[in-house]
Amino acid sequence: MKPKIYITRKLPEQIIKGLSRNYDVRMWDQEDIPVPREVLIEEMKEVEGLLCLLTEQIDESLIEQAPNLKIIANMAVGHNNIDVQSATKRGIMVTNTPGVLTETTADLTFGLLLATARRMMEAEDYLRSGKWETWSPMQLTGQDVHGATLGIIGLGRIGEALAKRAKGFDMNLVYFNRNRKYEQEKELGIEYQPLEKLLQISDFVCVMLPLTAETAYMIGKEQLELMKGTAVLINTARGGIIDEKALYQALENREIWAAGLDVFEEEPVPLDHPLLTLPNVVTLPHIGSASIATRMKMATLAVQNLVDGLSGDTPRNLVLLNKSK
Ligand code: NAP
Ligand code: GLV
Repeated sequence: MKPKIYITRKLPEQIIKGLSRNYDVRMWDQEDIPVPREVLIEEMKEVEGLLCLLTEQIDESLIEQAPNLKIIANMAVGHNNIDVQSATKRGIMVTNTPGVLTETTADLTFGLLLATARRMMEAEDYLRSGKWETWSPMQLTGQDVHGATLGIIGLGRIGEALAKRAKGFDMNLVYFNRNRKYEQEKELGIEYQPLEKLLQISDFVCVMLPLTAETAYMIGKEQLELMKGTAVLINTARGGIIDEKALYQALENREIWAAGLDVFEEEPVPLDHPLLTLPNVVTLPHIGSASIATRMKMATLAVQNLVDGLSGDTPRNLVLLNKSK
């Protein structure tokens, strides 16, 4: 009997075509609707391998119901949707897809920074809704990006790629990370600062951390109060790292100037979320890695990790407990 695998979302045929030779493959057949929890629970009873997305909560109660499970392959670099501790305790491997999405996510992050600083979405809306009657001196004016100070919180793969883009805009670069990155400091001309100092001196703050027990609500009221009144906060990492209630207050009271958000604590973000009522918030629906080529690479890598794990090899992107990489 072939080992059973379950894929929680419809993936392109070319990605999965070889799998059925060696595996009994079942796949949720919708592309834009997540697999219902009760269906997933049922499927988990027999599978040895699971390929999932960041939309699935693979928690202890689900893992407990999968007695044959050997590997959980996430099609994302972030793996906060998976209880890695429960999986590891049961000898189940967890993998992610680092690296292949770094440049694409850095592109989007820098694009969101530009769009927020220069009020691009608001300006488009202004034009399309017929408000553009003349050119005027201070109409839709924003913040300069060139020459400004960018503070990167989390100088990992994407943080570094972002710093490279910012250098091209002559930005001054500072970062905060739990470990000092001496090599990158030299290579990128980026300076380490304690978190509080970074928040005080940065014109733009980009959050590029994983969501973990340590980083949850790392940016709250106290931290937002340290930021400049003209500062822009960008989050393309994970919702849950920034306290959204505190962020709403800071933006509403103009304690900070604007925010660009690709991620939210609850996704999809409810349409009545207070942050969506503010003109100084630019929002995107979690599209950091969404280029055709990158999504294909992520799916291919997730399949590769799954196959490696099931065939007894060590998958290249094994997530180790207490490590973010
Ligand atoms: P990475 O290379 O692991 O970088 C994360 C960085 O955060 C590392 O430098 C790490 O430091 C640092 N860090 C971890 N915990 C910390 C803490 N408690 N305090 C300070 N620094 C801490 O990951 P990546 O590939 O750049 O991805 C980063 C995150 O971006 C992912 O986890 C994911 O959630 C998010 N993401 C979002 C999208 C999107 O579509 N919006 C796309 C891709 C990724 P060390 O060097 O000490 O490990
Ligand atoms: C996307 O958010 C990822 O973590 O890959």
